[in-house]
Amino acid sequence: MNAEAAAGTDGRLASGGPTSCGPAPGEAIAHNEGESAGGAAIRPFLAGEKALLIDSKGRRHLVTLRPGGQFHTHAGVVAHDCLIGQDEAVTVRSSHGARYLAVRPTLAEVVLEMPRGAQVIYPKDLGPLLIMADIFPGAKVLEAGLGSGALSMALLRAGAHVTGYEVREDFAARAIANVTSFLGEEVLGRYDVEVRDLYEGITESGLDRVLLDLPEPWRAVDHAAAALRPGGIFIAYLPSVTQVMALREALPQAGFVLAETVEVLQRSWHIEGQSVRPDHRMVAHTGFLTAARSAGERSARPTGDGAPPGAAYGPGAP
Ligand SMILES: C[S@@+](CC[C@H](N)C(=O)[O-])C[C@H]1O[C@@H](n2cnc3c(N)ncnc32)[C@H](O)[C@@H]1O
Repeated sequence: MNAEAAAGTDGRLASGGPTSCGPAPGEAIAHNEGESAGGAAIRPFLAGEKALLIDSKGRRHLVTLRPGGQFHTHAGVVAHDCLIGQDEAVTVRSSHGARYLAVRPTLAEVVLEMPRGAQVIYPKDLGPLLIMADIFPGAKVLEAGLGSGALSMALLRAGAHVTGYEVREDFAARAIANVTSFLGEEVLGRYDVEVRDLYEGITESGLDRVLLDLPEPWRAVDHAAAALRPGGIFIAYLPSVTQVMALREALPQAGFVLAETVEVLQRSWHIEGQSVRPDHRMVAHTGFLTAARSAGERSARPTGDGAPPGAAYGPGAP
């Protein structure tokens, strides 16, 4: 659940009661100043930005900073004004004296906490997706469907120019809201969202990449083949292996080559004193990533040996 919604209090206006900002008298407090180790300037928190408040037990609370706003927990109130204008990694205290470390949320943290309409692609899959798709600054990408905008965020942050097709107007609006909330309104110069059905066709051409997260991507492989430039990369994210099978059958028929399907398993470890072992729980399954490359028009021609187009490349090729 969205931490802001869970707290149910972010942005509420002051309703009385004292709040504290700084350390208790005589208490030393960690606070970065000036420049980070890498030499990058430390930017103070601004109104409208998101901050992640982490309490002494490691619990995380995502808040959007607003002048006069308050963050309420069982441990008291933190005034947003205590954070606005402060450098990242400042520690603030609630009205009851609880300490919170305030940092900017990472993309992964925002994806897991942000308001969702549809299921998001998890961070463990977003990273590999960027590499499998070889996303680069300025890449011309067609993405469909947008859902909550998690993949859009990752693509845009990597510098791509994204045209997004989403069949549901409410999800398209949700994706735009989540993306701009994290990356700012300026990113809309590289994010063109259209409410439309991918299965009916792709208008764009000369695309570098086509990335799909919708139920029947095999219905769009011909559109993708026509819209991608030769050498362009197609990727589909699918939760079920029967969907993967249908897609893998369709890809060579549409002239795609070098198809591969992977699943990403991520297992975290518990490390505390002498207790060093894998965590008891993990996200066991999310989805399969299937990638393939456009070989251009030539690959769409029959091979003449009875093999399907594209069969002469990749695993199993003679
Ligand atoms: C699982 S969600 C995508 C989540 C998204 N990748 C993210 O990371 O937040 C699937 C989306 O595909 C959309 N969709 C389904 N069929 C579609 C179609 N034919 N054309 C465009 N979008 C479609 C759904 O409305 C839904 O928003």
